[in-house]
Amino acid sequence: MKYFINSTADYHQHDLNSLGWELTVCNSLEPLDSPCRQALLSPCSFGQHLYNFLKEIIPVDRIHTLLEIGGGMGYLMRDFLALNPRLRAKMIDISPYLLTKQKETLHSFDVDFELADILTVSSKALSGFDLVIMNENLGDMPTLVAEQGRKNNSDQNNPAVLERLEYFKNKYNLPLGLNENEHINIGAIEIVEKLCFAGIKYIYLSEHSCEAVAPEEMKPYLLFQSSGSPEMISLKGHKEFTIKFSYLQKIADVLNYQTRRGSFADFLPLNLNDKVKTALRLITPFSDEQEIIKQFVHDLYKYEYLILIKGDEK
Ligand SMILES: C[S@@+](CC[C@H](N)C(=O)[O-])C[C@H]1O[C@@H](n2cnc3c(N)ncnc32)[C@H](O)[C@@H]1O
Repeated sequence: MKYFINSTADYHQHDLNSLGWELTVCNSLEPLDSPCRQALLSPCSFGQHLYNFLKEIIPVDRIHTLLEIGGGMGYLMRDFLALNPRLRAKMIDISPYLLTKQKETLHSFDVDFELADILTVSSKALSGFDLVIMNENLGDMPTLVAEQGRKNNSDQNNPAVLERLEYFKNKYNLPLGLNENEHINIGAIEIVEKLCFAGIKYIYLSEHSCEAVAPEEMKPYLLFQSSGSPEMISLKGHKEFTIKFSYLQKIADVLNYQTRRGSFADFLPLNLNDKVKTALRLITPFSDEQEIIKQFVHDLYKYEYLILIKGDEK
């Protein structure tokens, strides 16, 4: 097994000065006149949709404290606090630029902010929160990149990292490293264990998945295959990896969490009207709007969420 570590920490700490390069599903639904809103059955923002979905699954009246990790522009938290003003909220983010943006977006709410890499925050420091949200950011966490034959990389085969790999492999019975070409979402794995060890009652995670499958009714419109192994996505100034959610789900199972998993389309239901169908059928879209709709609908099925509910909570 030969790995080097892909980290986005430097990029987020020092280079990131816009999220425009990386249009998240949350941000694509932000403008009131976004064509993405029109492609949904109900033209609400991402946070409004997600809050209403979570309300059906977890008892929101029992949630008093909420932590969002990697909250980008702060739109999701703004919607949650508008819908449930009695929540006590905190944002942790590695990016000074985005933390400043979050402070601007959330200026009218009473929110705590912390500039930190979540991987350096202890389980104990997280243990007071009832609900933790990590939306569209697990792919930013460190990944062990399998590269057969790669030479002269100082991170290769870092003994501490290999020891962690061995630990996760044995503790959660995960086949890590058996396929020597498979990249490993080591940061996402660390975080799921950390949040479960902290005893968080409810955890919501989401990201681009390497295991997502288009439902039968969408197969005529969507052309994506899931490799089942984390795939590299090259973005401005950094690289991310899609997430192997089945491994995260297994860790949660072992740690006595119930899980619910699905695609974004579960809580962002698509309005498959003629306009959307036309955009999806075009190999080369005629307009920017058609291109935006095509990408958005693709993301609705390629992004997965995973909700963890602590064993004794429901
Ligand atoms: C792709 S953006 C997603 C933003 C937002 N959640 C959304 O859905 O629009 C990734 C976010 O995670 C943050 N982030 C990345 N790595 C992090 C880390 N190690 N610790 C804390 N935050 C991190 C970034 O600064 C950014 O806010």
